[in-house]
Amino acid sequence: MYSSHAERRRQLLSSIGNSLAVLPTAPQQLRNADTHHPYRADSYFLYLTGFHEPEAVLVLDGVRGKSVLFCRDKDAQRELWEGFCFGPQAAAEVFGFDEAYSLSELETRLCDWLPASEQLWWPLGRNNTFDQQVYGWLHSVRQQVRQGEQPPACYGDIYALLDEMRVVKDAQEIALLRRAGQISAAGHVQAMRSTRPGQYEYEVEAELLHSFVRQGARYPAYESIVAGGDNACTLHYCANNACLRDGDLLLIDAGCEWEGYAGDISRTFPVNGRFSGPQRDLYQIVLAAQLAAIATIKPGALWHEPGDAALQVLVQGMLDLKLLHGSVQGVIDSGAYRQFYMHGVGHFIGLDVHDVGARKLAGQWRRLQAGMCTTVEPGLYIHPDDKVPTAFHHIGIRIEDDVLVTANGNEVYTADVPKEIADIEALMAEGRQDAKP
Ligand code: GLY
Ligand code: MN
Ligand code: MN
Repeated sequence: MYSSHAERRRQLLSSIGNSLAVLPTAPQQLRNADTHHPYRADSYFLYLTGFHEPEAVLVLDGVRGKSVLFCRDKDAQRELWEGFCFGPQAAAEVFGFDEAYSLSELETRLCDWLPASEQLWWPLGRNNTFDQQVYGWLHSVRQQVRQGEQPPACYGDIYALLDEMRVVKDAQEIALLRRAGQISAAGHVQAMRSTRPGQYEYEVEAELLHSFVRQGARYPAYESIVAGGDNACTLHYCANNACLRDGDLLLIDAGCEWEGYAGDISRTFPVNGRFSGPQRDLYQIVLAAQLAAIATIKPGALWHEPGDAALQVLVQGMLDLKLLHGSVQGVIDSGAYRQFYMHGVGHFIGLDVHDVGARKLAGQWRRLQAGMCTTVEPGLYIHPDDKVPTAFHHIGIRIEDDVLVTANGNEVYTADVPKEIADIEALMAEGRQDAKP
């Protein structure tokens, strides 16, 4: 099960040569008093280990060619309260580390290994506490100068190496992302089927979360956005406490986390199950923009191409509906469209919902490659104070899917939630039919 993680460690070991890399997992975070937030391991650490326990550090020793885990000891008293913990021996066996030791041995062993290493890699400059710990180890080695020891002279940011690795997903990651996409999609379908006028936004959120958790995805990948009417014009609205009005649209942007991997889906649909004329007009523009963007996604396409394709369609639509005046190019050049569309078309997705990875390399837009995953999420947002026909007021629409770049094109792996108007209305009608006594 953890062979992909071992392969990633081998790959990193071979790229660091005779160097040492040190990667801590995330600290536990207090929520209040003595209660913690649910624990989530660090994404880089998960990528290389699959190990979910707090208080763990991965060391890759390039000189000896070994991957070494430092983790919590077995502790019957703590396990009585908090549950099972692997301990070094079982962790090494199950996760395939060459060696594993108690976290209490980290400093001594690192100070033994550091002098032979040409370079030290860690998440340099990301976390003050960990930086200070690393400086402490380097200082300890410098204290041994009379015994002929000295620390490496070169330092590097290990995230810079890992970001590039994480951009292209391997087969195991693709399987997990597809599963995150499927579970997220099922939650959206359930929300669509069950939404009714008079419900509160949080009731719809409960349908989503219920569906995620029932399938084993205990946590959403980010705070769910369940935004009725003009709440949808607040891009990261998450109060989710308003009553849903007959005649309004509902925008949901939500996804589950599955084995550390994120789903990220947005759908917008009518609270009462039927799109009005103005809602339909705006919705079709966003949908056409999304489909145009997705059509550009294939190996070799430049990162900005989906965004450019979506923008052309959105701006043409804004002109057709007389939200703006002028020419498509004029509106793009002036940036006037940002009154109604003020975010980018998408982002890499993976262990982080807004996943790592440079969009430009050496100052040039990067090309898409098979194995990359990105969202495609154009939108239109008409505030009540925008000087456009009132029929369009209070409408925020976003349609978002998660897309894998394949060898020949792309795969929309969140396609299980309908997005064509007729399909949404049919699903909502079916939900009402099924609910009848
Ligand atoms: N859910 C946040 C985003 O779509 O980027
Ligand atoms: Mn989203
Ligand atoms: Mn997104």
